[in-house]
Amino acid sequence: MSEEQCTELKVLDNVPFGQVSGDAQFFALRLEKPQWKDWKPGQFVMIRPRGWAFDMLWARPFSICRVSSRDLVLFFQAVGRGTRRLAELKAGDSVVVWGPLGNSFAVEPDTSTLLLAGGIGIAPFIGYAHAHPKPWNLWMEFGHRMPLGCYPFESINEKIMADNYLEECPEDLQKFIARLEKRIAEYAERDGLVLACGPTPFLHTVQQFALKHGARCQLSLETRMACGVGGCLGCVTSTTDKHHLHETQAGKAQVCNNGPVFWADEIDLTKA
Ligand SMILES: Cc1cc2nc3c(=O)[nH]c(=O)nc-3n(C[C@H](O)[C@H](O)[C@H](O)COP(=O)(O)OP(=O)(O)OC[C@H]3O[C@@H](n4cnc5c(N)ncnc54)[C@H](O)[C@@H]3O)c2cc1C
Ligand code: FES
Repeated sequence: MSEEQCTELKVLDNVPFGQVSGDAQFFALRLEKPQWKDWKPGQFVMIRPRGWAFDMLWARPFSICRVSSRDLVLFFQAVGRGTRRLAELKAGDSVVVWGPLGNSFAVEPDTSTLLLAGGIGIAPFIGYAHAHPKPWNLWMEFGHRMPLGCYPFESINEKIMADNYLEECPEDLQKFIARLEKRIAEYAERDGLVLACGPTPFLHTVQQFALKHGARCQLSLETRMACGVGGCLGCVTSTTDKHHLHETQAGKAQVCNNGPVFWADEIDLTKA
């Protein structure tokens, strides 16, 4: 893992994506570039605006989407108190950022790799698609409930092949689930790699198909976190006996320290 740092960064801009009913919920937050030696797709940062003071103590975790020579980009959905306050950030504001944190997705350049994203779970795949040395070996299936323009789908689709599924009714969800099983079975057949990120029910579905068809599959968990650095036990997930810490840590792993990426057979999402 890269050496993590705590650093204060200026906001360059905070751009709303795809307005819905006049209120934007999705934002690309661009910060000045941190002095990191390295980072890997799948890693995340904890971010806490200076302006929160004692009002909100805990930082919030977000996947690293991209780090260029000029900036660090995060993509987030405003779902609660913290993210709604992040949505108010303006150019010139200061934020404290801890990172890069956690482990990363496997990169096997010559292996056919299927990226499965549910909703805001698309975020870590922006960096993955752009950093991959052979993007022609990648394919994404993206399921979403909000209009496609709310998500940075285009910036991924310009690098790799990708399909999207808008879920407007229960039948749409069933079609997407059927598609997921078909694609996971195909990648298992050819000894490909399957990587998934999204809400827990989505990851649980992917996990069940991966185990059923014997696919090599990694899941990135978006568990709630408080400290993000292994200090509070606020983010534990249940492990199976395939996880190397299963015996020593009584069947629990910290998502911030030991994840957020786990092999599908290492964790038990029925106990999440
Ligand atoms: C490793 C990691 C990477 C993440 N990457 C991103 C990202 O790139 N973009 C992004 O938008 N979000 C991401 N998340 C989720 C994000 O951290 C939460 O949405 C955020 O912390 C919510 O803070 P809040 O104060 O606005 O919500 P709160 O007020 O704390 O909660 C509001 C609502 O959101 C739900 N909620 C809170 N946290 C989560 C969560 N982690 N997962 C699902 N529901 C949650 C709560 O149950 C509640 O219903 C990531 C989480 C992790 C652990
Ligand atoms: S968030 Fe505190 S231990 Fe993981």
